[in-house]
Amino acid sequence: MNVFATRKLPQEVSDKLKQQVDYSEWHSEEQAMTKGELMDAIKEADGIISVLSDQLDAEVLASAPHLKVISQLAVGINNIDVKEATTRGVRVTNTPDVLTNATADLTFALLLAAARKLSAASAEVREGNWKSWSLLQLAGKELSGATIGILGFGRIGQAVARRAKGFDMNVIYWNRSKKPEAEVEIGATYQEFEDVLKQADFLVIMLPFAPELKYLIGEEELALMKSDAILVNTARGGLVDEAALYEALKNGKLAAAALDVFEKEPVPTDHPLLTLPNVEVAPHIGSSTLATRMEMANLTVRNLLAVLDGKEPETPVN
Ligand code: DGY
Repeated sequence: MNVFATRKLPQEVSDKLKQQVDYSEWHSEEQAMTKGELMDAIKEADGIISVLSDQLDAEVLASAPHLKVISQLAVGINNIDVKEATTRGVRVTNTPDVLTNATADLTFALLLAAARKLSAASAEVREGNWKSWSLLQLAGKELSGATIGILGFGRIGQAVARRAKGFDMNVIYWNRSKKPEAEVEIGATYQEFEDVLKQADFLVIMLPFAPELKYLIGEEELALMKSDAILVNTARGGLVDEAALYEALKNGKLAAAALDVFEKEPVPTDHPLLTLPNVEVAPHIGSSTLATRMEMANLTVRNLLAVLDGKEPETPVN
């Protein structure tokens, strides 16, 4: 079986693959393949290990006539035309669960960083602007007693809620379907979408991306939010209208934002949002702890080999 990975994988992972399949991989750990390079590389592939920057659309899938499995090294699969893959009899798998805690941790790290202005604080120390103790120096926003509104109450949304409870926050959420068991277990309350926007002191976006959710948070939604609220997005950039977010942050209609994801990644360094002091940013590293990323890689390999072996994968998408 011929397997291609669109990123250079850790040696121990590629060694495992080489023992079982005819394996090749893209030369870079971080540089994405162009569409042309991808189509060229997967012509003979029975299996692909893909990442979120690979656009596996109908045209790309058509260039891989032998393809049996796309094993995505991520939980999000919005870069894959799953319908087309299913029509072609190609199994798609992803990596849920193993990254839940790491992603919830990073979400909370960003939330805290925005609440307590950590980037500005660090800059003040490093740049020699720390003159003395002062009463309201970098005064931030208290978590205890504040309301966190979580949009999307799946595995990661619930893990964020559990952390919020540890910080004595009041947890409300919106999800397409209510989650009564999780509500009881965690102590969270379902609210209508607009009510979450209106009540949240911290709004955390934890939804998977789908085309109909593009710019779910735009000018109108931001206008409903409290002007001292903080928005955190570690899900997908396309869920937020970045131009509207910039205007709201610049004009004092929103206190701060913390973003691990952007509509275009890597986000261009001249992006207007990066000029604002009240924006904390990270380069899409939600799941990036060593343990979690290795778990993700190993699950990706197990899923891939299971399908090629005619077995059911552990975490199928289709
Ligand atoms: C995912 O898994 O979808 C993350 O966004 C990438 O780690």
